[in-house]
Amino acid sequence: MSATRKEVKTVWLALDYACNNRCQGCYAANSSFKSQPMTLEYALQVLGFAKALGARDCLMIGGEPTLYRNLGELMRQARPLGLEFKLVTNGRKLASLDYLTGLRDAGLSHASISVEGASQETHNRISSSSSFHEVMKAIENCVKLRMNFNTLFTIGPDNAGEIVESAKDLARMGVQHILYNVGLPSPGNQDVEGGAESIHPQTAAAKIVEAYLELKRLGIKVKFNMTIPLCLIDSPMLEAMLEDGYISSGAHCHIFYGKGVVFEANGNVLPCTHFVGHPLLNLKTLEIQTADEFVELWYGESGLHGTFHEALWKYPHLKCQQDCKYWGECVGGCPFLWVHFDPNQVFGQQGEAPS
Ligand SMILES: C[S@@+](CC[C@H](N)C(=O)[O-])C[C@H]1O[C@@H](n2cnc3c(N)ncnc32)[C@H](O)[C@@H]1O
Ligand code: SF4
Ligand code: SF4
Repeated sequence: MSATRKEVKTVWLALDYACNNRCQGCYAANSSFKSQPMTLEYALQVLGFAKALGARDCLMIGGEPTLYRNLGELMRQARPLGLEFKLVTNGRKLASLDYLTGLRDAGLSHASISVEGASQETHNRISSSSSFHEVMKAIENCVKLRMNFNTLFTIGPDNAGEIVESAKDLARMGVQHILYNVGLPSPGNQDVEGGAESIHPQTAAAKIVEAYLELKRLGIKVKFNMTIPLCLIDSPMLEAMLEDGYISSGAHCHIFYGKGVVFEANGNVLPCTHFVGHPLLNLKTLEIQTADEFVELWYGESGLHGTFHEALWKYPHLKCQQDCKYWGECVGGCPFLWVHFDPNQVFGQQGEAPS
């Protein structure tokens, strides 16, 4: 059982960490949400590197990427690279139909809109903003323009009881892809005002199961991105959830699969967006100028791609090292969980691998 080596599929551009919200538990808090926009020239340069690595998708993220002034221009100028441009956004600016139409015309192929709660009160409290109505409007606009989009609800201690309610509302609005994520601990996110305790993985698993049963009964389809250990859900229930397609198949962990690379404006390269402030390397310090140099650095014999994955990957628990039939689909939970939670407590002291 070792980390597999796959080609990069997705490049993430953290265009700027400035943000008009301050969500509880946000991993980007480690940037202090300081504005340092990526220059258009640098963005185009790293997209060239990404293309040379084999990337197909470019996810534009931050901070809040819609605050980045060159968003449309970036997509227009990068069009010859043939990448699919996708946006991960708090949705506030998409409340303007003109703005959204402009992004679509510039080449945006997909948007992921974050919703922090089912009710206005919860969403606004978690995001420290009064943006709920803007987000709802953004969703209406995406439906109106027939955009490819999903909603993304990050489950935390403050909104875990609103999964079903949010899915009902979003389904009623015509959202086809309703996704749920589990809030993960990350360095820096405990500092956000208002507290940022991460949800315990066992609590998250219990809430997910409860919501699945109710949503299945109601005939509403959603997906849970399982960044927590799959075996926190009892086997027969887990099998039913997998079969019904409520759990996204295949792990999303970029560290394990090595399918993603993140570029920040300051030249930092991260293995996953949650590593804000903890770069693998800095392209500007290393004076990497060409795609060939970057490809060598990444895939070369002594390149980062393999060595980093092997050095970093640790099995969180004995169970995962045994013959677990879910290994691969599950990678033992996101490594960030184990920064904050004790695997022995979460998995139980001994335990047997699911077979
Ligand atoms: C960091 S935001 C950046 C893009 C944009 N500002 C937004 O809110 O969508 C991207 C997504 O990550 C989620 N997120 C933030 N901190 C997280 C954490 N610690 N664990 C899991 N997801 C997190 C947010 O809820 C949001 O859906
Ligand atoms: S989750 Fe997005 S909107 Fe919320 S503070 Fe983080 S970057 Fe800003
Ligand atoms: S890989 Fe590990 S965490 Fe995942 S289901 Fe198997 S034993 Fe549990």
